[in-house]
Amino acid sequence: MNAENTPDFYTGSPVDATDLKFREEFVEDLWRSLRSQHVILTAPRRTGKTSVMDYMRHFPRGFRVIAVNVQDLKHPADVFQAILDALYDEHPDFVRDRIAARWELLTKAVEKVGEVGFAGFKIALRHSDPDWRANWRQHGEKLLHQIRGQDDSVLIIIDELPDMLQSLHTDDPDLLEQFLAWWRKQRLPPTAPHPKDDRVRWLVGGSVNLKGSLSEWGFVDLVNDLDDLSLPVLTRAQIGEFVRDMLSGRAVRFEKAITGRIIERLGQPIPLFLQMAVQDLYRLWKKLPTKATPDPAPLTVDDVDAVFDGLIRSSAAQDKLQHYYTRIRQYYPEPRRTAAYEVLRQLSLAADGLTRRALQQEFDRVCDDGGHELPQHDRRQQFNQLMLNLENDFYINEIEEDRFGFASGVMQAWWRKYYA
Ligand SMILES: Nc1ncnc2c1ncn2[C@@H]1O[C@H](COP(=O)(O)OP(=O)(O)O)[C@@H](O)[C@H]1O
Ligand SMILES: [Mg+2]
Repeated sequence: MNAENTPDFYTGSPVDATDLKFREEFVEDLWRSLRSQHVILTAPRRTGKTSVMDYMRHFPRGFRVIAVNVQDLKHPADVFQAILDALYDEHPDFVRDRIAARWELLTKAVEKVGEVGFAGFKIALRHSDPDWRANWRQHGEKLLHQIRGQDDSVLIIIDELPDMLQSLHTDDPDLLEQFLAWWRKQRLPPTAPHPKDDRVRWLVGGSVNLKGSLSEWGFVDLVNDLDDLSLPVLTRAQIGEFVRDMLSGRAVRFEKAITGRIIERLGQPIPLFLQMAVQDLYRLWKKLPTKATPDPAPLTVDDVDAVFDGLIRSSAAQDKLQHYYTRIRQYYPEPRRTAAYEVLRQLSLAADGLTRRALQQEFDRVCDDGGHELPQHDRRQQFNQLMLNLENDFYINEIEEDRFGFASGVMQAWWRKYYA
């Protein structure tokens, strides 16, 4: 490693395909699964889903790959407009010469783009049918039909789908169900070819456990054909490699022991926090007074502690962590919402975690205080569901038999500082 090929630090944006490390095997798994199935990729926020998706787009394997982020979309019609727009963006000739063939909606839009002064394909597309919203099924089906008539396969990546489904659930639960049922039909025989023979392949991603939310709304059957792959957590060896490459590549000297300390302070390593911490270490080292001397002082374990203590106060981290706090309000129904905040507050204060029994008592107390009079059986079930949600959403993990703690050390420290 030298300065030229040492990757940049990424502290929020997806990692460029050419800088992405540690995901080769997982990307292999994804392509393998996509040969015969449609796939859901789940992992918590800021762990590297979009980076992996960008990588697949950058290094496609026999597919034309397009990706849309549907986080802020509110309607199935918007999804298909976004897909068409992305397809045109990445493969304009393919759309103009093949997908648009004998499809008036698209031919009109493509013609418009050529007109002087016209703002672009996306707008032309929106204007191509004044009733887009009412006609989303028809346009969606036509798009899939057109792709299936080509020799090329298209991988459609839908990022942050659970967010969109959540807002549909809030605005129009019937439409949510119609969309999910329709979409399932479009993935499976007899309406669609078997996935392995289909020219269309779906890869869906999200930060929230999609199947979890859907089973709560009673719709999990509508996505049970999707193969579930979860992004692996970085291993100790990978973290060590990252620290070494990023620091040595910048000629930073450090004591060997810092890697262990970084691992300890990170807890469950959320890659974003790893990047932030190592970047801060690098910045700290640059400021050390001895740096300019022929034999600069190496970074120490104390420096690691100073960096982590500073990290949770930094506005950069604040902003990312706040998401984890807020999304409970968005995704957890009562009484689980209040109980989640209470459980996490208690756990943020506990150095060695808490037992399941202690957490259950906390849960019971929240139910009593909030006037949620649930029969014992329902209460137990709600509690189990809460624990499952908190584990799946990466807040907590089982540190030893029957004892739970915060998964991320950074998150725990932050939670303690601001919400305990
Ligand atoms: N393979 C990786 N190695 C190191 N850091 C990574 C890796 N993948 C992601 N990151 C870190 O995570 C951050 C978020 O990545 P992103 O792909 O946008 O995650 P997600 O889509 O899961 O929210 C990046 O800015 C970077 O700090
Ligand atoms: Mg993402």
